[in-house]
Amino acid sequence: MPTKDSITVRDNRTGREYEIPIENGAIHASALRNIKTSEDDFGLMSYDPAFMNTASCKSKITFIDGEKGILRYRGYPIEELAEKCKYLEVAYLLIWGELPSESEYKEWVHNITYHTMVHENIKKFMDGFHHDAHPMGMLVSTIAALSTFYPDAKNIFDEGSRKLQIHRLIAKIPTLAAFAYRHSQGRAYIYPSNDLNYTENFLSMMYRPSWTTKFEPNQTLAKALDVLFILHADHEQNCSTNAMRSVGSSHVDPYSAAAAAAAALYGPLHGGANEQVLRMLEEIGTKEKIPEIIRQVKEGRRLLMGFGHRVYKNYDPRAKIIKKVAQEVFEVTGRNPMLDIALELEKIALSDDYFIKRKLYPNIDFYSGIIYQAMGFPVEIFPVLFAIPRMSGWLAQWQESLTDPEQKIARPRQIYIGYGERHVPPR
Ligand code: SDX
Repeated sequence: MPTKDSITVRDNRTGREYEIPIENGAIHASALRNIKTSEDDFGLMSYDPAFMNTASCKSKITFIDGEKGILRYRGYPIEELAEKCKYLEVAYLLIWGELPSESEYKEWVHNITYHTMVHENIKKFMDGFHHDAHPMGMLVSTIAALSTFYPDAKNIFDEGSRKLQIHRLIAKIPTLAAFAYRHSQGRAYIYPSNDLNYTENFLSMMYRPSWTTKFEPNQTLAKALDVLFILHADHEQNCSTNAMRSVGSSHVDPYSAAAAAAAALYGPLHGGANEQVLRMLEEIGTKEKIPEIIRQVKEGRRLLMGFGHRVYKNYDPRAKIIKKVAQEVFEVTGRNPMLDIALELEKIALSDDYFIKRKLYPNIDFYSGIIYQAMGFPVEIFPVLFAIPRMSGWLAQWQESLTDPEQKIARPRQIYIGYGERHVPPR
């Protein structure tokens, strides 16, 4: 019997059979609409809350094999990119599909460098936040506010305009992040320095004591941050990227779509997890308290933050690389005692049947926060440090979605389980 790339579905309600083609390991959900009990029947839908088993798009950007713990950007293994490339090279790769030549990289860095400044009114916008406003809340709002400064961004099908907005967003997000931090510290904003590279400039805007004080960013920390930015740059259809694509599908400008993506990333189940990991480790405090935490997790009273993943059912390859980066950082900053608690927690969890059965391994957020804290970043800034590099992934996915002929405005269906028609009682 020749094998065919299709399935045959028998509808037991009617006895009819339907052959549905299999393409790229999937069936097209629209094929289910042909399975009807009568001509005026709507046909079948697929029901998949949280899209646990639904492909929303075709993409050439990032490949993940959750069982084997593989992550590749445009075919390049994350391990090689982290070791051999700079973050801005990887951002170029994600967005334009190839690693840049020397001249392309020079032009790209020039364009990013010369768009790092923000309109002076952004400072007034930032100053409007309360002194203890969460930096991620400030970042989400200010990314959206940028859309009001660049009305030309609405020309989303003009390649030149798209390219300009991509330059602006990648260039300005470190500036917005640093401004949010300086505001929360009650300190003057430090403007971008065009003589520094991407991560050095970010460290300068964050930590330079004042505009008149010379500031030499630590090269080891700047390089470590660059690697961390590479690891966080993209991750196929994660929650925040789904938000970027979904909001972008209404053909809104990229600033508004990126604000929605940043808002999704803010959540403790997603990019906000790195902050929650540190809070959990600080709550644990000593190795002796770990068994109590594990007991609470196993009783379902809490999550082990930084563990588990929708796709990785093996060790997150990024977590492995981060553990190596941690050693380099600690040589400069001194060892973060939280690392010992994290390593012991990982050791205990990975030998406990509760976690093994559920294939719960450390994800990228489990170790990143320990490094960030050692680098002097306050815990509240951790999700912001995730958003900075993820901006290039969001923009790559947004642009791919806009230019995909199969994409339309995202508008899922539902299964209605509410009341049938009923009437307001007479008054
Ligand atoms: C990121 O999608 C991406 O790619 C995201 C990301 C990216 O780069 O964009 O990789 C970045 O967001 C990493 C994840 C950071 N979040 C956390 O560390 C928060 C803690 N993790 C969990 O919230 C959870 O693991 C998720 C949200 C990450 C994944 O959740 P799923 O896929 O919906 O899994 P699930 O909730 O269905 O869990 C399956 C089982 C459940 O137990 P049972 O109901 O079967 O008994 O595993 C349990 C869950 O309770 N479980 C956990 C757990 N994660 C899942 N139990 C304890 N601690 C956890 N962390």
